[in-house]
Amino acid sequence: MEQVAESLGVLADGTATHAGNYFVANYPPFSVWDRNGASSATSRLAKPGDAETPLGLYVHLPFCRKRCDFCYFRVYTDKNHNEIEAYLDAVVREATVLGRQPFLGNRQLEFVYFGGGTPSYLSSSQLVQLFKGLSTALPWGAPVEIAFECEPGTLTRSKLEAIRDLGVNRLSLGVENFDDAILEGNNRAHRSKEIYRVWEWLGQTGFEQVNLDLIAGMIGETDGKWHRSVAETVRLAPDAVTVYQMEIPFNTTIYKGMRESGASAAPVADWPTKQRWTREAFEALEGNGYSVGSAYTAVRDSSRIRFVYRDQLWDGADMLALGVSSFGYLDGIHYQNEPHIEQYIAAVARGGLAVSRALPISREESMIRQFVLKMKLGRLETQPFRDRFDVDVTERWGDALRLFQDHGLLKFNRDRIDLTREGLLQVDRLLHAFFLPEHTNIRYA
Ligand SMILES: C[S@@+](CC[C@H](N)C(=O)[O-])C[C@H]1O[C@@H](n2cnc3c(N)ncnc32)[C@H](O)[C@@H]1O
Ligand code: SF4
Repeated sequence: MEQVAESLGVLADGTATHAGNYFVANYPPFSVWDRNGASSATSRLAKPGDAETPLGLYVHLPFCRKRCDFCYFRVYTDKNHNEIEAYLDAVVREATVLGRQPFLGNRQLEFVYFGGGTPSYLSSSQLVQLFKGLSTALPWGAPVEIAFECEPGTLTRSKLEAIRDLGVNRLSLGVENFDDAILEGNNRAHRSKEIYRVWEWLGQTGFEQVNLDLIAGMIGETDGKWHRSVAETVRLAPDAVTVYQMEIPFNTTIYKGMRESGASAAPVADWPTKQRWTREAFEALEGNGYSVGSAYTAVRDSSRIRFVYRDQLWDGADMLALGVSSFGYLDGIHYQNEPHIEQYIAAVARGGLAVSRALPISREESMIRQFVLKMKLGRLETQPFRDRFDVDVTERWGDALRLFQDHGLLKFNRDRIDLTREGLLQVDRLLHAFFLPEHTNIRYA
């Protein structure tokens, strides 16, 4: 019960934003993935995979114009043209070796995600070369979704057309905020005029789906500025809007500043304020015809707009990883590639693959993984857990679910769990109550 109480914040020290990871991206936490376990992933690739399980691909493109002060991803801002070309060659070489693995068998890629860093930092010709290399090396077929992350200031009209012509059908734009002083104060590379410029081009280019990212709680955020950013988002009317609540992991520039000044709380809004801002954004979007589909996203037309990468990954799909620090999942084995570009390129040059750590997970951990990730959707059906894992989740976690229900965070019966808006807005905090004891109170990343 202590675990549950802690998740509720009953034992937590206040509500300020302290350093550390908030967002639960995976389970078990990355910190328990093990270098000694790396061979389990490469051995699994050498055996046939399950033809019935959907297969996806994540490609990490780690270059950015500037490093944002809040960013915790593996990114490089100092690489020259030749270094970027060498990286792209390594990615295609890794894909070529991956493409020969028996794990892929006769399967085809169902979804592909280009994340970063900033995939749109690459030039059109680099992107064309990269797609050519990857689609030759891997069973590309016709993925249902090809998602691609962009930073507004890196786009041109012709680059957008090139990205569209390569088959990208979910374009995600890191807007974060519309206020220039806030963008500058957080060391973002783009300004609002670049957002509006891209928006005009997007209207002329025609993508199946455009998503816009916002962050609630950037340094310098105020009620007035946030409401203006939300209003601008509503006015632009993207197909999907993702609202992240600002977290300050240990590898951010903001945390470095906190350490130097001895501050224990980050110079950003506290959690209740960030939750309120997210709630207000969702309410404004709902008032304009959007529906909230997860703790972070609202979509304009839920009958048309899907996010295959998220839904498949959270449902236990296999996912191949390409590129530095990229992570994947192979039939119950988590794995991550070399976290530094030099080691990544060297590993690929040696043997073609670059796995640096992995974790084969038990059936129970696999069940918990699916449970916690699906809870982030805000609604969960319990029958699939009986069918797949022979577990009644409402019995297994009866105490925690009842306590959360008593606090107005969710409602549940034998068939389903539905988070309230209150619960959904702080779901990542609650999820620790469902972790195995050995995975609580440890550093997450
Ligand atoms: C890889 S970036 C997207 C593409 C591109 N690099 C950009 O920033 O425009 C992924 C998203 O993560 C979010 N993000 C990054 N750091 C964050 C943090 N510390 N807290 C919350 N969200 C964060 C931002 O919304 C960002 O758009
Ligand atoms: S542009 Fe995106 S990936 Fe690059 S530093 Fe900023 S948030 Fe991180």
